[in-house]
Amino acid sequence: MEKPLKGLLITLEGGEGSGKSTIMARLKADLESNGHDCLVTREPGGSTLGSEIRSLLLTARSAHPIHPMAELMLFLADRAQHIQEVIRPALEEGKVVICDRYNDSTIAYQGFGRGLDIPTVQEICERVSGRVKPFVTLYLDVDPKTGLERAKQAAKEDSAAGEMDRIESEELAFHRQLRKGFHWLIEQNPDRMILIDANRPLEDVYEETKTLFFDRIKGYV
Ligand SMILES: Nc1ncnc2c1ncn2[C@@H]1O[C@H](COP(=O)(O)OP(=O)(O)OP(=O)(O)O)[C@@H](O)[C@H]1O
Ligand SMILES: [Mg+2]
Repeated sequence: MEKPLKGLLITLEGGEGSGKSTIMARLKADLESNGHDCLVTREPGGSTLGSEIRSLLLTARSAHPIHPMAELMLFLADRAQHIQEVIRPALEEGKVVICDRYNDSTIAYQGFGRGLDIPTVQEICERVSGRVKPFVTLYLDVDPKTGLERAKQAAKEDSAAGEMDRIESEELAFHRQLRKGFHWLIEQNPDRMILIDANRPLEDVYEETKTLFFDRIKGYV
C-alpha cells in the first residue's frame, strides 16, 4: 500500500524572468524561520537523471530541432523521475515541498506554446503525477517583454549562465501564447492557483506572495 503524503506540495509557475527562483529562495528562508521543514526543487532537473534531461532540453539545437511531442515526453520523463526520487519521499516525511515549475508549465509551454492537443497534454500530466498534486500554485504573471529583458540581463551578468537557453530564445509570440495558457489555467483552477502581478518591483511581488501564501497554508502545516 502507498504511504500517506503528509506534507504539502506548493508549485511556482510563470514565464521566463517572472521571478520564480528568486521568490522561491525567499519563501524557503521564511518557512524555515517559522520552523517548517522545507525542500525546494525545480523542473526540469530536480533529480539526478533530471539534470541530464535538463541539459538535453535547454541546449540550442537549430540543426536538428526537438519535435514538440518528443519535448513533451522529455519533460514528463523528468517529472516521473523527480516525483519518485525527490517529491514523493519528501511529502511522505511531511515536508513542505516547493517546486519551481510543474504540470501547469507543461500545459502552458507544450500545449499553448507548441500547439500540442491540450486535453492530451493534461491527461498525460495527470497520469504521470497521480496523487502528487499541488495544494497551492503561485503563478507569477509578467509581461513577456519585461520577463525576457530580465532573463537577458541576468544571462549577461552571470557568465556561468551564459546565453539565453533554447526555450528562452523562442520568439515573443511563443511567450505571449504561453502566458495565455497560464491565464486559461487560472480560470480552470481558481481554488488552487493564485495570480500575483510580477511586473512590479521584487519587494512588492515578494510581500504579496508571502502574505497570500502564508494565509493559504495556515492550518495545514
Ligand atoms: N520583480 C522583479 N523586478 C526586477 N527584477 C526582477 C524581478 N523578479 C526577478 N527579477 C530579476 O530577474 C532575473 C530573473 O529572475 P528569476 O531567475 O528569479 O526568474 P525565473 O522566473 O526563475 O526565470 P527562469 O524561468 O528563467 O528560471 C533575476 O536577475 C532577478 O533578480
Ligand atoms: Mg528560474
